[in-house]
Amino acid sequence: MTPDWIDVATVDELGPGKSHFIEVGDVTIAVFNLDGEYFALEDACTHDGSRMLSCGVEAKFLVHGERLMCPRHGAQFCIRTGTALSRPATGALARFAVRVESDQVQVYSESQT
Ligand code: FES
Repeated sequence: MTPDWIDVATVDELGPGKSHFIEVGDVTIAVFNLDGEYFALEDACTHDGSRMLSCGVEAKFLVHGERLMCPRHGAQFCIRTGTALSRPATGALARFAVRVESDQVQVYSESQT
């Protein structure tokens, strides 16, 4: 698959404090709006690969401020950087570029890290 920009949601759908995820091939990308800034991370915990935002648990139980919590063993990640903030995860989540084009929030399908 050739890397490209992919629509995630409209700006209204992904307002401040909201999150969304999309499947891009075999990768799930979670997108967050933190006070008007967008961030995108691979939605696969670096501890044991668990889905996080796309696991079926409501986002309000997984997203705490700028932290994303893995529902399986409780590791936490920084949404801004993807860095693991608590064990059992130690590796960072892959990050993806995000932009807004014509009212659409888009992610680039190839990770930056
Ligand atoms: S799979 Fe996420 S903390 Fe273990």
